[in-house]
Amino acid sequence: MAPEFVLETRGLTKEFRGFTAVDSVDLRVQQGHIHALIGPNGAGKTTVFNLLTKFLTPTRGEILYFGKPITAMKSNEIARLGLVRSFQISAVFGHMSVRDNVRVALQRQQGNSFHFWKSARCLDELNERADQLLAEVDLLGFADTLTIELPYGRKRALELATTLALDPKVLLLDEPTQGMGHEDVDMVVGLVRRAAVGRTVVMVEHNLSVVSRLCDRITVLARGAILAEGDYAAMSAHPQVREAYLGSEAAALEEAHA
Ligand SMILES: Nc1ncnc2c1ncn2[C@@H]1O[C@H](COP(=O)(O)OP(=O)(O)OP(=O)(O)O)[C@@H](O)[C@H]1O
Ligand SMILES: [Mg+2]
Repeated sequence: MAPEFVLETRGLTKEFRGFTAVDSVDLRVQQGHIHALIGPNGAGKTTVFNLLTKFLTPTRGEILYFGKPITAMKSNEIARLGLVRSFQISAVFGHMSVRDNVRVALQRQQGNSFHFWKSARCLDELNERADQLLAEVDLLGFADTLTIELPYGRKRALELATTLALDPKVLLLDEPTQGMGHEDVDMVVGLVRRAAVGRTVVMVEHNLSVVSRLCDRITVLARGAILAEGDYAAMSAHPQVREAYLGSEAAALEEAHA
């Protein structure tokens, strides 16, 4: 029987010198979902991602991927299984063309064997696949552009393409719309929706409009623990969620006025 959840944590906990940043989190992500992890600043969202990808070692708890424990695995092993975080392995090189950046990501994914890439047929395949990925993120028109010359939003699209080059089954995105204006946000919403076809996406996102447009299910974290879980309608009506958000927004407002 196929496991019910593609990604599951049981009692996931991370303590930093006595401070509990992630507190007994039981996260369950269904296959094919776009699942949001939201919560006020400092709630532990990024730490959860760091635990899932083993950038950090959990203090306690278990992580299951397609029903199998991956808690003891290393970061690169987990990525190879298809649990990939955007910007994890794929850095984007400014002084390379957009296409070359995707080619590098593809070569890395396919084992980086120098001899393998000597064959002309393989190079053709590489170029074809690179252009497919560029088309997926609407960057084909920028293929020969120097990456450093890309506008900010397009650079994020390229980062997504280099992540998709790793052929993830579960894609983790930490604040994909961070620092973007309206137009770029709309572009990213479209890209994530497309990238999610045939895959599962878990995303940390502060922009609640993005969450409402994209996400099938939402887990709300506060002070390291799960506060509530459900769809957007349920979460936006949830008194404790509203309170948690109101608190943080009031603080953000005060900061902006300081
Ligand atoms: N390496 C670390 N050492 C000590 N404390 C840490 C470390 N990393 C995170 N923390 C603390 O853990 C808590 C959760 O941080 P985390 O970055 O996961 O929050 P977040 O939900 O991603 O916040 P934001 O919305 O601001 O990105 C914070 O209080 C943070 O200061
Ligand atoms: Mg964060």
